[in-house]
Amino acid sequence: MCGIVGYVGSRPSQDILLSGLARLEYRGYDSAGIAVIDGDGDLGMRKKAGKLAVLRDDLDAHPLAAGTTGIGHTRWATHGGPTDVNAHPHLADDDKLALIHNGIIENFAALRAELEAEGVTFRSETDTEVAAALLGREYRRTGDLEGAFRAVVNRLEGAFTLLAMHEDHPGVVVGARRNSPLVIGLGKGENFLGSDVAAFVEHTRNALAIGQDQMVTITPDAVTVTDFEGNAVEAEPFEVSWDAAAAEKGGWPSFMAKEVSEEPEAVANTVRGRVQDGAVVIPELDGLDELFRDIDRVIITACGTAFYAGMVGKYALEAWARVPVDVELAHEFRYRDPVIGARTLIVSISQSGETMDTLMAVKYAAEQGARTLSICNTQGATIPRESDAVVYTHAGPEVAVASTKAFVAQITALLLLGLHVGRVRETLPADASDDVTGLEALPEKIAQLLDEEQEHVEQLASWMADTRSVLFLGRNVGYPIAMEGALKLKEISYIHAEGFAAGELKHGPIALIEPGQPVFVIVPSPRHSALVHSKVVSNIQEIRARGARVIAVAEEGDAAVLPFADEVIRIPLAGPFLEPVLAVVPLHLFAMGLANAKGLDVDQPRNLAKSVTVE
Ligand code: F6R
Repeated sequence: MCGIVGYVGSRPSQDILLSGLARLEYRGYDSAGIAVIDGDGDLGMRKKAGKLAVLRDDLDAHPLAAGTTGIGHTRWATHGGPTDVNAHPHLADDDKLALIHNGIIENFAALRAELEAEGVTFRSETDTEVAAALLGREYRRTGDLEGAFRAVVNRLEGAFTLLAMHEDHPGVVVGARRNSPLVIGLGKGENFLGSDVAAFVEHTRNALAIGQDQMVTITPDAVTVTDFEGNAVEAEPFEVSWDAAAAEKGGWPSFMAKEVSEEPEAVANTVRGRVQDGAVVIPELDGLDELFRDIDRVIITACGTAFYAGMVGKYALEAWARVPVDVELAHEFRYRDPVIGARTLIVSISQSGETMDTLMAVKYAAEQGARTLSICNTQGATIPRESDAVVYTHAGPEVAVASTKAFVAQITALLLLGLHVGRVRETLPADASDDVTGLEALPEKIAQLLDEEQEHVEQLASWMADTRSVLFLGRNVGYPIAMEGALKLKEISYIHAEGFAAGELKHGPIALIEPGQPVFVIVPSPRHSALVHSKVVSNIQEIRARGARVIAVAEEGDAAVLPFADEVIRIPLAGPFLEPVLAVVPLHLFAMGLANAKGLDVDQPRNLAKSVTVE
C-alpha cells in the first residue's frame, strides 16, 4: 500500500527512483511521482495519476533536470481520489521541500485546521500534504531539517512511513516509520531507502531494518538512525537472500504466471533444511520446546489468502500437536476481547509481513501476554520483528498482487510447524513420517500437476470467459481451498465467486444453483476417508440434479466422480493435509486463465494493492 523509494549518491537519481518504483508498483498503482534535487540545488517534481508508465511518458516528454538526490512514490489512494494533485510528492516551504508518505495520519483533520488557521492553503485532499506543510513550518522556524522532521513525526498519530528532502540540504534524505515499513539499502558512496528491499535490490543486497518509531537520515556516505527522541539506535543489518532477477518477469507473460510456475520451488525451499533424520526440526524454533509443551491453545490469525492457509493449518496442527486451534481474521480478532494469556500461542501468517490488520493483532496479543510466532515471506518485515519467533517461508519475492506461490509456501510452513510441535509434544501419530516424506515429494507432484493439467485448465478458463458466477465447494481441508479458489477468481477476473463448505450447501447456498451454474468441487481422497469422500460425491449429485455444471478436482484414479462431473481435473496422490497444496494449483491456473481470457491485467487488478498497510 504505497511504495516509497529514496536515493542519495553520485548517480542520476531519476532512473534509480523509477526502477525502484517499478519493483514497488505492486504496492499501489493509481498514481506515481518523483522529486529530484538537481545539480544547481533546485528541487524538481513530477507526479501523475495512473500507472507508473504514465509518469515515465511524461518524464520522457518533459525531463526533469538531473540530480543525485531524490524520492519517489507509487500510490494506493486513501485520502483523496487518484488524481495528479493528490499524487505524491507533496511540496511545502515555497516548493523547496518534498515529502512522500505511506499510511494514514489519523489526526490530519485537526492538524490541517491548525495550519489553515495560520493561513496555510492546501492544494490536495490528502493527509500527506498536512505533514509536508507542518514540516515546512517547523523547518522555517529552525533551519534544522532533522530536528523539524522529528518535531513533525512526534505530532502525527496513525501509521506512517515518511521521506522528505529539502533544497537547502542536497545529498540528504530523511525518513521515519511508525507501523508502516521502511528499510535502508547500503551502497558504496550511495544509500537507499525503500518500503521493502525490492526498491534497491538491483543495486545492493546489504540492508538495515529500522524499528518502530525510528528516524533515519541518509547521505551518500552515512546512515544515522535515531528514535523519535533523537537518541542514536543501532539498526539491524541483514543480507537480502534473493537477487534482482528473482523479482523480474524473466520472459513470462505476467508475474502471476511466473509465480504459479514457481509453486514447486516455493514448497521445496520452505521445506529445505527443516527435515533431519526423517523428522521435522525447524532450527529457528530451537529453545521453544518448553513453550510448545506448555501452550493450551493456538490462535492462527491472518487476512485473505493467508487466512485460508491458516484454516488448512488448523486441521494439521490439531491432528499432529493435539492442541485446540482457532483461526481468526486479524481485523476481527483485534477488535473484540479475546480470552488469551501466557499459554496461548498466536501464529500470524503474512506474505508481506506488513499487513496492518495482522500487525495490530500480533501487537495486541503480545500486550495481553500471549506468545507470538509469525510465518512470513519477507525478511526484515515488521510482523516478524514484532513476534517472539518467526518461521520464514522461502517463496522468493511475490510481485503479482494475487498471492499464489506464497499461499502454498504458507501451508507448507504450517505443516512443518505442526510436525515440529507435534514431535516436541510427543503427540505425532505413528504414520507421521509418511507426511514428512510426503512434504519432501510435494514439489515434484506440483510440477507434475502443472505439466499435466495446465493446458486443460487454461482451455476450460477460456471457454468460460463469459461466465458471470462460479461457485466452489469443499469439505475439511478442501473447504479453505474452495474459499481461496473463489477469492482468486473475484480478485483478478472480477467475476462473482463464492466458496462454501460442501455440507453447508443444503442450508442455503443450494438455492443459487440453476441450470448451467459452474461449480468447482474439491473432492477429498477416498483413501483418507471413504466417508467424507462419499459425502462430497453426494453433494455433487445434489447440485448436478439441479443443473449445475460440475468441475471436479479429484485425485488420480478416483472413478466415483466420473459419472457426475462435466470436467475432472486430476491431482497426484498425497497425504490428507498435503492434498490441499495440490488442489489449489488448478484453481490458481483457472483464475489466471479466465482473467487472461477477459484481457485483464492479472498482476495489478483494480482497486487492490499487494501490501495492505492501512486498517
Ligand atoms: C489474495 C491476497 C490477499 C493477501 C492478504 C494478506 O490473493 O493476496 O488476500 O493474502 O492481503 O496479505 P499478507 O499475506 O501480505 O499479510
